[in-house]
Amino acid sequence: MTKSLNEVLLEGEPLRPFGRLVESGSEGRTLADVPVEELLALALDAKVVVLRGFGLLGKQELENYCRAAGEILQWNFGSILDLVVRDTPDNYLFDKGDVPFHWDGAFAEQVPRFFLFQCLRGEGAGGETVFCDSVQTYRDAPEDLKELWARTSITYRTDKLAHYGGLAEWPLLGTHPATGETTIRYAEPLDPARYANPLFLTVDGISAEDGVRVMEDLRERLHDARYCYAHEWRTGDIVVAENHALLHGRNSFTGSVSRHLQRIQII
Ligand SMILES: [Fe+2]
Repeated sequence: MTKSLNEVLLEGEPLRPFGRLVESGSEGRTLADVPVEELLALALDAKVVVLRGFGLLGKQELENYCRAAGEILQWNFGSILDLVVRDTPDNYLFDKGDVPFHWDGAFAEQVPRFFLFQCLRGEGAGGETVFCDSVQTYRDAPEDLKELWARTSITYRTDKLAHYGGLAEWPLLGTHPATGETTIRYAEPLDPARYANPLFLTVDGISAEDGVRVMEDLRERLHDARYCYAHEWRTGDIVVAENHALLHGRNSFTGSVSRHLQRIQII
């Protein structure tokens, strides 16, 4: 008899410092056997859910599965982004370097609530996807810094070389639409000397001096191991992440890479 998802979840393990690993525990079960609403409820609570041992879905099946839970963010390539390392990338998402912290949808019309990755091929060294819990980072920050953050807004500018780009202005602090918690919405700057598709930031609402201080502090604070879960990919992994509370990025690859992830975003 097939176990219900609840039974499977109870056997899941906590990841450190946050997140949940759920192993299928039975052969032949696929993502389609996991009720999507339960999966997203768990992801809202745990922030990151790793499913291991569940069969992956084809693109159309994956889209149908996610659409049962909400609208799917559409791009010029459709809804599912194939993330592979390219030989001549025009955007840092497709090269071997790191991807600095950001949240998805800063340049889109709507910010997705969740994104889901499935890993078709996970061989390669390094390249961990890193998630930062911005809610906890905010909670632990000193009051004077919170006060400075509350006055800060940032304009982001990047050329549209991949599927996103343009100009976008965001307050540094946000309110989580589901939980009401305060979140940090920050995309780290991308130096044109290092990245194929640089991202420029202009800080408003505070003095230029404070702006420099805020950015230097965030560079350290957001990467504190107490707030970061780094996911090491294995072929077949499915990862669901909560986009409003987290920032995410990627460590650089350290060796030869043959990785293929697919990503879909649920609004
Ligand atoms: Fe992203």
